[in-house]
Amino acid sequence: MANEANEQETGVQRGMADVVAASTRLGNIDGIQGKLWYCGYDVIDLAQYGSYEETVYLLLHSKLPTIQQRDTFERELGRYRRMNPGLLRLLCNLPGAPTPMEALRTVVSAMSAVDPSPMDKSRQANLRRAMRIIAQMPTIVAAHWRLRQGEEPLSPTEELGHAANFFYMLHGHAPAEVEGSILDMCLTLMAEHELNASTFAVRVVASTLSDLYAAFTAGLGALNGPLHGAANTEVMKMLLEVEQTNNIDGFVRGALTAGRRIMGFGHRVYKTADPRATFLREVLSELDGRLPGVHWLRLAEQIQDTVFKYKELYPNVDFYAAPALYGLGFPMEMFTAIFACARAAGWGAHVLEQYDDNRLIRPTTSYVGEIGRVYVPIAKRG
Ligand code: ACO
Repeated sequence: MANEANEQETGVQRGMADVVAASTRLGNIDGIQGKLWYCGYDVIDLAQYGSYEETVYLLLHSKLPTIQQRDTFERELGRYRRMNPGLLRLLCNLPGAPTPMEALRTVVSAMSAVDPSPMDKSRQANLRRAMRIIAQMPTIVAAHWRLRQGEEPLSPTEELGHAANFFYMLHGHAPAEVEGSILDMCLTLMAEHELNASTFAVRVVASTLSDLYAAFTAGLGALNGPLHGAANTEVMKMLLEVEQTNNIDGFVRGALTAGRRIMGFGHRVYKTADPRATFLREVLSELDGRLPGVHWLRLAEQIQDTVFKYKELYPNVDFYAAPALYGLGFPMEMFTAIFACARAAGWGAHVLEQYDDNRLIRPTTSYVGEIGRVYVPIAKRG
């Protein structure tokens, strides 16, 4: 209440809600209708009929590729997957026990030190940098996880597509067709989402004309919070907990009464269902039994209905991405890093868009502190 009053007095939009801070040709959300488009294309069509690589191409080039362009692009991304040996050594020697996101953030930041042409600031060079980071993030995440398990990291293969290779580098075998296609869909659905917190962080850093590695590092930092990208891990923890206690109603009511957030619900922009969540729910439902762990879906559906009974809240993409990724055998500690790998496409495109028409992003504050205070030397302060 105090905050609302303060907001009226100062004109501050807390959390910058509804503030239009940039123009973009990338993501476009209709939060009332529950629709999302990338460069004018419905995200559901891209997830259903396209591929993650096509989506990356679309975001980076503002148009869908021809077959030849797609093939060339896929080959190029495939070649960029391999990590620099120095970065692999860095990953092996990270102190302590970093989480997947901590490891990813550190290695992406260090990629600047091995940039093959650091002085080249051309658009073409930045495009190649974006592609290298997008291609290598899954390699870093999979290698880190295998090292954590005491296993040797696997070199990426150019024989497989982006999603299938990610699966292979983690599990040591290629995915079944249905597994590859679900992972590809998840990556496509999470590739871009206009000015979410992490993309905003990316654009702020890019607007200072700092480099792509710095911008991605900022994005990774912002994504890692439980109100943003880390919600998917929390969703899975919740599903496991509710499965144990077998008391959905009690869990939901307890959380809402205590004022706790139910992870995977609510969204700043969507005032109705998040289309990505609805689509994933449908896809997983149709699979019924063909993907291990689809029973998590049933539990999630019951939680969704129960939450709605008590409060008009809709699930966001994380709510159904969590059981999908778990069903694919990805450990829940890795979910946020997988989200980051997907969102790398949007981040790269936003950096290029920011550079193309840059003005330093530097908002201002409403000062609400004391004024006119008189300095008293330290010896005289009581
Ligand atoms: N559980 C319970 N209540 C919620 C939830 C939730 N998940 N989300 C929103 N609400 C309630 C708030 O308590 C508030 O209720 P009130 O008006 O009765 O006080 C109302 O909905 C509005 O909430 P705000 O916090 O003002 O909404 P905001 O736009 O600031 O927050 C956010 C959006 C952070 C996503 C919020 O919905 C949330 O915390 N969700 C859970 C975390 C989550 O799933 N994050 C992933 C977001 S999607 C993504 O990043 C991929």
